Amino acid sequence: MPSVKDILMSMEYGPAPESATEVLKWLAARGTFGHFIGGAFTAPGVTFATTNPATGENLAQITQGTAADIAAAVAAARAAQPGWAALAGHERAKWLYAMARHVQKRERFLAVLESLDNGKPIRETRDIDIPLVARHFYHHAGWAELLAEEFPGAAPVGVCGQIIPWNFPLLMLAWKIAPALAAGNTVVLKPAEYTPLTALAFAEICAEIGLPAGVVNIVTGDGETGAALVASKVDKIAFTGSTEVGRAIRKATAGTGKALTLELGGKSPFIVCADADLDAAVEGVVESIWFNQGQVCCAGSRILVAEAVEDAFTRRLTDRLARLRVGDPLDKSVDMGALVHPVQLARVQQMVAAGMAAGARLVQAECKLPAKGCFYAPGFLTGVNPANPVADAEIFGPVATLTSFRTPDEAVELANATRYGLAASVWTESVNLAMDLAAKVKAGVVWVNSANIFDAGAAFGGMRESGFGREGGRAGLRDYLRGPEVAEAPEAQATFDTAPVPAATGQTGAIDRTAKMYVGGRQARPDSGQSYAVMHEGRVLGLAGLGSRKDIRNAVEAAAKAGAWGRATAHNRAQVLYYLAENLSARAAEFAARLVEGGHRPEAAALEVDLSIRRAFYYAAQADKFDGAVTATKTAHVTLQMPEPFGIMGIVCPDAAPLLGLVSLVLPAIAMGNRVVAVPAASRPLPATDLSQVLDCSDMPGGVLNIVTGPKDELAGVLAKHDEVAALWYVSGPEGRAAVEAESTGNLKSVWALANRDWTGPQGQGRAFLQRATQVKTIWVPYGE
Ligand code: NAI
Repeated sequence: MPSVKDILMSMEYGPAPESATEVLKWLAARGTFGHFIGGAFTAPGVTFATTNPATGENLAQITQGTAADIAAAVAAARAAQPGWAALAGHERAKWLYAMARHVQKRERFLAVLESLDNGKPIRETRDIDIPLVARHFYHHAGWAELLAEEFPGAAPVGVCGQIIPWNFPLLMLAWKIAPALAAGNTVVLKPAEYTPLTALAFAEICAEIGLPAGVVNIVTGDGETGAALVASKVDKIAFTGSTEVGRAIRKATAGTGKALTLELGGKSPFIVCADADLDAAVEGVVESIWFNQGQVCCAGSRILVAEAVEDAFTRRLTDRLARLRVGDPLDKSVDMGALVHPVQLARVQQMVAAGMAAGARLVQAECKLPAKGCFYAPGFLTGVNPANPVADAEIFGPVATLTSFRTPDEAVELANATRYGLAASVWTESVNLAMDLAAKVKAGVVWVNSANIFDAGAAFGGMRESGFGREGGRAGLRDYLRGPEVAEAPEAQATFDTAPVPAATGQTGAIDRTAKMYVGGRQARPDSGQSYAVMHEGRVLGLAGLGSRKDIRNAVEAAAKAGAWGRATAHNRAQVLYYLAENLSARAAEFAARLVEGGHRPEAAALEVDLSIRRAFYYAAQADKFDGAVTATKTAHVTLQMPEPFGIMGIVCPDAAPLLGLVSLVLPAIAMGNRVVAVPAASRPLPATDLSQVLDCSDMPGGVLNIVTGPKDELAGVLAKHDEVAALWYVSGPEGRAAVEAESTGNLKSVWALANRDWTGPQGQGRAFLQRATQVKTIWVPYGE
């Protein structure tokens, strides 16, 4: 008889299957599902099968949602929304609490159902997915309770269309539905076609607790149903899934006024430093890329290991790999189950084959796989050169790449050499090194000596092509709220004659100079060598450079070189802004005269200059007060929520307030550590170009604020398409907004397209601007364990 040690070494202990009887009975009783609309299940329509990927067996028939189904669900959600929003927060909290309680009551049932439909091991659904679902509803019951106090003046967005993937089906549902409902929205949710069952079980919970009809609607179907939801009359789309579909949704919603949050793919670095606890780091890999069959958007799919420990680490990792058990998801002793679908299995096989064809070597577990079903042996690829397709593409399966680095700086460089920016995991025994790497890695979430931990209280979401918006915690809730309504103010007619005026001509009478652009801390001539006449009532006030694509590129390049600004202390940034205020104040009369020249009444001009100075004071004050937070999570971590600058921002300013509009937009961005390429009012750029002289003597480092004058929409388009511009603010009418939103799909930048507003009023200044100028980075640091 084998000893316990033998058993543990060989891992050849018998199966410990979880019973599926109850779930199979439930499925047999339902058989074919319709949608859940207006509080009741509809009759099934045209259906497709959802299958168990571990066996290939059909589990149930699911209705393919049509545009008419979507319209009915949106109508139900629309009808329910005012009543739901009008409930006291405490009343909404009770419903969310009931959801949490009912999920808990059915924990085992839901865990089994999820494993059957998705293929993930019961150990994970039982210990991770379903408990986190309950936690999410409890946490957001709390937000509903506190909403009025914590977000005074905020209103729900309205009706939210939510599209979720198949990798964490019920957990993604909870991430979407809980905050939306807490904030007073109603929802139409479309689960992924491979894994609709737990969403339908959740619909039953909604019916059972007597949730008001129409508050939660579930419409099943594939990508076409999803596209119909995107096109429907919802106020917001929240999407989690592939970057490709995220891009399509960005395009489809451009200019519609629909709010949008995207949580997309990743190729997250898993950095093992020379001083790391290697055994812990190996377990980290297990939890990172071999968790959920590697079908995790934030999986540590790029292992970067310090050269000094590469051999030792790889040896231990290979040993650990050999001990992983792959098999029946309902077996409680199994580490890895089945991939979600034959299509996904084929995709992973193809990706790995392509990686190997390009020279990578696969180290793979030699485990016995079940004879049928979507099983794939876990592993990792070495010898992956940067040109290898698997170097930057998501495999979305249990296969990481492993590369070595020599120095921490090189680790950062490799970590950031991707278009994604979702997560990172950092392994070192040095707190200094851990925090240094956490600061430098471009990722929305950083785990220090840990991986793949989630909590309802901690913001989750990406940077760059991993999308925008956050889920969880305060930041996540904010994405389901609107600020107080901002009244649209008329925009000045941008009388702007695009016919270029040769720079050397037309300088007569009142025209005393040609206003230069400002790039990299220096006055710059336009690349075209051409200027345009700035006119007022038939008079030429001056000439301004006719900026073009090349000038924007130069400005972005200059901004890229000014990266130190993001690392300057908040105190330093505040000092520069105070100094700017002081210098602006010294020249107040001159600026006021400029504004009067352009058509302002004297009082309005004086007010605009005065408010511009005050705005500099305000954002200097905020520079070191717009803080992050430490949030309480379920595990022993201090979980930091750090507002981080985007990097380079494009800001296209209104014509109506040529100085104050620019200052109101640019200063919060700069105060938070961004570098800015600003396009000032096309019709009245001279106050902005005059500002460059104030900047020159305000100790603002060159490249922090760059000013490019010229045709607004053309320049906005260049900014929208530029991959190094991480965020874009654009004040214009609806058509211009549609264009920049559509053009910004390339790097999926965060776009804030806003209508002109009264910049002199309270809505011209405030924390909303600082929030828009930052993205939350969540850093998990072990604490007190
Ligand atoms: P997908 O992005 O196509 O599916 C996600 C959801 O979007 C599903 O509910 C789907 O029905 C819906 N959808 C598909 N096309 C749509 C459209 N045009 N408009 C609106 N909704 C649409 O992901 P898929 O094809 O299942 O997986 C492909 C790859 O995407 C994976 O190999 C993986 O790399 C990545 N992925 C990333 C996820 C993440 O969590 N970031 C989750 C799932 C997949």
